[in-house]
Amino acid sequence: MPDPLRSLDDLDVRDKRVLVRCDFNVPLSDGRITDDLRIRSAVPTLSSLLRRGARLAVCSHLGRPKGKVVDELRLAPVAERLAELLDTDVRAANDVVGGDAAAACRSDAPVVLLENLRFEAGEENNDPAFADALASLADVYVNDAFGAAHRAHASVVGVAERLPSAAGYLLAEEVEKLERLLHDPNEPFVAVLGGAKVSDKLAVIGNLLDRVDAICIGGAMAFTLLVAQDKDVGRSLVESDRVEEVAGILRDAERRGVDVFVPTDVVAAESVDEGAPHEVVDLAGIGDRLGVDIGPKTSEQFATVIAGAKTVLWNGPMGIFEIDAYSHGTKAVARAIADATENGAYTVAGGGDSAAALKQLDMTDAVSHLSTGGGASLELLEGRDLPGVAVLRERS
Ligand code: 3PG
Repeated sequence: MPDPLRSLDDLDVRDKRVLVRCDFNVPLSDGRITDDLRIRSAVPTLSSLLRRGARLAVCSHLGRPKGKVVDELRLAPVAERLAELLDTDVRAANDVVGGDAAAACRSDAPVVLLENLRFEAGEENNDPAFADALASLADVYVNDAFGAAHRAHASVVGVAERLPSAAGYLLAEEVEKLERLLHDPNEPFVAVLGGAKVSDKLAVIGNLLDRVDAICIGGAMAFTLLVAQDKDVGRSLVESDRVEEVAGILRDAERRGVDVFVPTDVVAAESVDEGAPHEVVDLAGIGDRLGVDIGPKTSEQFATVIAGAKTVLWNGPMGIFEIDAYSHGTKAVARAIADATENGAYTVAGGGDSAAALKQLDMTDAVSHLSTGGGASLELLEGRDLPGVAVLRERS
């Protein structure tokens, strides 16, 4: 295992203003937060710093405003929720590094929340002047934004190069738990992958091949694999330009003795719309329809494979789980993983959609670790160095 990151416990923070980068990129609907997991996950770090006498300058991005102020992406709803969770006043600055933020950070306010980092063009291109301005607001820096650790942005990399820096508890835990999958998994290790596009997961599959014993593949991405195996998939979503690459991965898996399980039955629908005529069929009976979920035989096979595992990684739903009629495969996999967890397996769910599926099923406690990172967890599992983690390792 790589060395642990320098912890915020090793920083002297008393009476200091600590810039804490969080990932509060939360889903909003009509200005209301619909899932506050990412805010709740930052509380241990923020509370610990407050208990140790620090004053905080908390910062985050929200959405992709691309360097402009977008009123719907202001962090005010986050400030409100954060104040409730910390049971402390949170002063929401109305700019990122401007006069209001600077005055707030100079004041005695225990918690200042800077405005959405991506309102500033300098954030995403790690502009030195913006990184200087951000760093000048504080004395030390803590990165707790695992979900943004794959972005080489000013608030992730630039400030870490300018201030004494350490990892927050969430970032450290995410890195440790996900790196354990790559470096020290108990065997058998099974990966369950789903989601729409195989192209998003090819690098992960490539990196996992010499680590896992079996891979179960569902979701629309399975259809590109099935085409690579010369199967008829009707009108299902296929990334035709990836078929050859996928065929190569399947050959590689066979050479390494990794079992790859793909759907043998599916829910075949006339269209992806809710209420469209649909039925469970063996894959060969898909006809002119498209696959929207794995079928019960496939779910059972995946559940059997999962039951035999000591380590399970789950990334991506098995079908269009947002539509109840197409959610059975995802539910079955979630239940199988919950059982495996109860039986002592180490189980990790990563990626936004798996988290959303577990939340919808009210099963967020069913895994040993539920990652708050989407792209970040995928890039880590691809074996890539995350810029936000690499800079902390270099600096410690
Ligand atoms: C996420 O939601 O995965 C992170 O907050 C990163 O967001 P981004 O993809 O807009 O950089």
